[in-house]
Amino acid sequence: MARLKAAVLISGRGSNLEALITACIDPAFPAEIGLVIANRPGAAGLARAEGAGIPTQTIDHRAYEGRAPFESALDGALRAAGAEIVLLAGFMRILTAGFVDPWRDRLLNIHPSLLPSFPGLDTHARALAAGVRFAGCTVHFVRADLDAGPIIVQAAVPVRADDTPETLAARVLIEEHIIYPLALRLIAEGRVQVREEAVEIDGAAAPAEAMVNPKP
Ligand code: GRF
Repeated sequence: MARLKAAVLISGRGSNLEALITACIDPAFPAEIGLVIANRPGAAGLARAEGAGIPTQTIDHRAYEGRAPFESALDGALRAAGAEIVLLAGFMRILTAGFVDPWRDRLLNIHPSLLPSFPGLDTHARALAAGVRFAGCTVHFVRADLDAGPIIVQAAVPVRADDTPETLAARVLIEEHIIYPLALRLIAEGRVQVREEAVEIDGAAAPAEAMVNPKP
């Protein structure tokens, strides 16, 4: 069966991109990455993609007057590459409805919180300040509102009393690298449907146990 053709948009480090590349290296994985685009020249993730033999492009937002022409350049590159699904992986530009709407339910994002809690930046510091006992990460379909859209997969991690934003971020990032390839696989297997802005996944099983923090 043909593999789903994915493109990944990055701005920086690219560790989620790396996790996706690693998943796609397995010929049995039902998706492949056909293009990686960075909006920042020299983004570290570009080298990771090139190392894996994946075509890359840099589309520098600063070269465009406003969001619309930048987004139109992105859209053109994605369509020229035959992308069927687009994954934002640490892509640090807000995308407007003009870009997002035509990719409806084919545009994914990963965010390092249990959405809809803590959208936006500095999520880990805000989670610690709020005293939540669980943090986590979310893969969701993108809507034009920031960090909003139907949730596909989440992972929860316990918050520890001595956590800093950095230690918490590191614990969450480990789970990000699990759930982004998982979400892509479920979609590529044709098991994910959006119904009234909630996602249904064919044959998905929830974990049996609850977690309590602190331990009873
Ligand atoms: C991740 O924490 C992701 O959830 C957020 O930006 C960070 C990107 O990290 N959207 P990386 O570039 O994938 O390493």
